[in-house]
Amino acid sequence: MNAQNTSATLRCIEVECRTSFSIDQRLYVCPACGGLLDVDYDFRSLENPGESKAVFKQRRMSDAACDLSGVWRFRELLPFVTDVSSIVSLVEGNTPIYDAPHSASYAKLESLRFKHQGLNPTGSFKDNGMTTAVTHARMLGAGAVACASTGNTSASMAAYAARAGMRGFVFVPAGQVAHAKLSQSIEYGASVVEIEGNFDDAMRIVRDLALEADVYLLNSLNPFRLEGQKTIIIEMMEQLAWDAPDWIVLPGGNLGNTSAFGKALYELHLLGLIARLPRLAVIQAEGAAPFYDLFMSEGSTLTPVADPRTLATAIRIGSPVSWKKAMRALDWTRGIVATVSEQEIADAKAIIGVDGIGCEPASAATLAGLKRLAASGTIGATDSVVAVLTGNLMKDSGYTVDYHSGRLTLGERKIESTYANSSIRVPADQSEIRKILKI
Ligand SMILES: Cc1ncc(COP(=O)(O)O)c(C=O)c1O
Ligand SMILES: [Zn+2]
Repeated sequence: MNAQNTSATLRCIEVECRTSFSIDQRLYVCPACGGLLDVDYDFRSLENPGESKAVFKQRRMSDAACDLSGVWRFRELLPFVTDVSSIVSLVEGNTPIYDAPHSASYAKLESLRFKHQGLNPTGSFKDNGMTTAVTHARMLGAGAVACASTGNTSASMAAYAARAGMRGFVFVPAGQVAHAKLSQSIEYGASVVEIEGNFDDAMRIVRDLALEADVYLLNSLNPFRLEGQKTIIIEMMEQLAWDAPDWIVLPGGNLGNTSAFGKALYELHLLGLIARLPRLAVIQAEGAAPFYDLFMSEGSTLTPVADPRTLATAIRIGSPVSWKKAMRALDWTRGIVATVSEQEIADAKAIIGVDGIGCEPASAATLAGLKRLAASGTIGATDSVVAVLTGNLMKDSGYTVDYHSGRLTLGERKIESTYANSSIRVPADQSEIRKILKI
């Protein structure tokens, strides 16, 4: 398949609007009503789920660039590209699912699996969505792309923009981005702008900028990002032999993943690729939990949190742009939202490390949330659960070292190092060392 026709359109998600627009336009929200946009397809050509599964599997034997990617291998499920030679890829996706026995017993579950999106080319799940969004930018002929970011989006966008030969502008909250993430954007050649404000300020500024200046916005407001992030779920289902688990657990910040996971599950179910829908459990940090508040209030409008606070900087977001799509995802999957404390996130992260897996703080919210949900009986001890680890351990090494050495604090509040594994200082003398280590 080199060139294909596409039925893809942009369609407003608001039920009383549902206006559709050409994908050749640079749109972020519906021009008619301001609603969020979906990439919408006529999937009628995919009538045979068995055949689709066989095609996806066969591609694992192929050396073609579009088959090596764990995103584009599933291209019939995101068919907006008419010419696969225009794809901008770093061979993303293809991330493993691990059994995690320590983490399972910590949460008092019989078993638990992690899908580790931190093992992507730039170390986070953002690569799944950036390959599709930058490919769409290329289809539009964009010369420059931009995003607001807590660090991972910018690292990923900078890499893909570099691959595509585009200018990249990243807007980050000054002093609130982990060093490793910042270093990636700088190294990949993006223009890094540190805003004196928080993520939500950066998001507001870059949204306005994209309406005025000749830059294509690549935040998860951009529906083409979410098309790529759908493949996290598609690949997960393939790895589980298309047998959906009871629960999929993920951290929630700007809620792009929640939205993309919901759309993926809805479409897979519609197309007969999975027989039943798993439930989504979205976990937020207590200090940055506007989506949890909305879920608990059973209201219909999200109230932003003015000053979100959490050491899990990737989910330090008070005004998530995709909340309406995320609500829809909960509706489709009988999903739930829970919160966890800073202490719970920190301890859960250390436990994930003991399984030899590791992740960044935001990702550990999943295990912390699971522990709470299992304790309350919401998730049963024998339920099948896959949690998504969104970022790599090395993304925020400062947090890890501070935790294990008893120096982790949020403002005045000290985080206890419950599972500390601190390094020890010894004289340069073997017999002394053997005495100390008892070996
Ligand atoms: C590691 C990590 N986890 C979770 C999130 C939150 O994802 P979302 O904004 O899709 O809710 C982010 C977003 O930056 C992230 O970088
Ligand atoms: Zn509309």
